[in-house]
Amino acid sequence: MTKPALRAVPSAPSGPFTLPPLPYPESALEPVISARTLSFHQGKHHKAYIDKLNAAVAGTPYAEMDLLAVVKKTCGREAKKSIFNNAAQTWNHTFYWHSLSPAKTEMDKKLSAAVTGDFGSLEALQQLLTKVATEHFGSGWAWLVVKDGKLQVVDTHDADTPAAHGATCLLTVDVWEHAYYLDRQNDRNAYAEAVVKKLLNWSFASDNFARAQASA
Ligand SMILES: [Fe+2]
Repeated sequence: MTKPALRAVPSAPSGPFTLPPLPYPESALEPVISARTLSFHQGKHHKAYIDKLNAAVAGTPYAEMDLLAVVKKTCGREAKKSIFNNAAQTWNHTFYWHSLSPAKTEMDKKLSAAVTGDFGSLEALQQLLTKVATEHFGSGWAWLVVKDGKLQVVDTHDADTPAAHGATCLLTVDVWEHAYYLDRQNDRNAYAEAVVKKLLNWSFASDNFARAQASA
């Protein structure tokens, strides 16, 4: 008899920011990411960032702001570091869930042309993103972003996010150990390679790219 997957704990209505539901069932990303990993990652880690953010902003003007505005307004301010870390991790994780798809997705023509122009091919982009995700030192994130009109693969440390630094995020890969350790222990490369090859949501990336072009 198989053990039932652990269920994510719904966010308590204790503040302005709430845990959004996953855009797919917890088992939908198997075998690349197990339901157990997804349950802990979203139901425990993501929820904890939101709970800490709600506690930190209680009674402050940040409680009335949009999440991304909180991230941008607290970025680089030592006195607001705790709010920034928890707000950015809240934003990053919601973005990560949408960067993954259990179904095969494809880029639209505009993003496809940009990928070919800036990286040479989708395969070259996938190799670079996997390398950056694998080689990032410590906890952080690997990203496909558009900045200054050009697609770029970048990494950020800890909670930091390109969204706070003038870039439009298209896709991300979480490379904190909690994203893969239950499934793959220390083999981050196997996790990154499988996520990049099998799970990235190119339709989501295309929508984000279109929004970046519309606002340029
Ligand atoms: Fe994470």
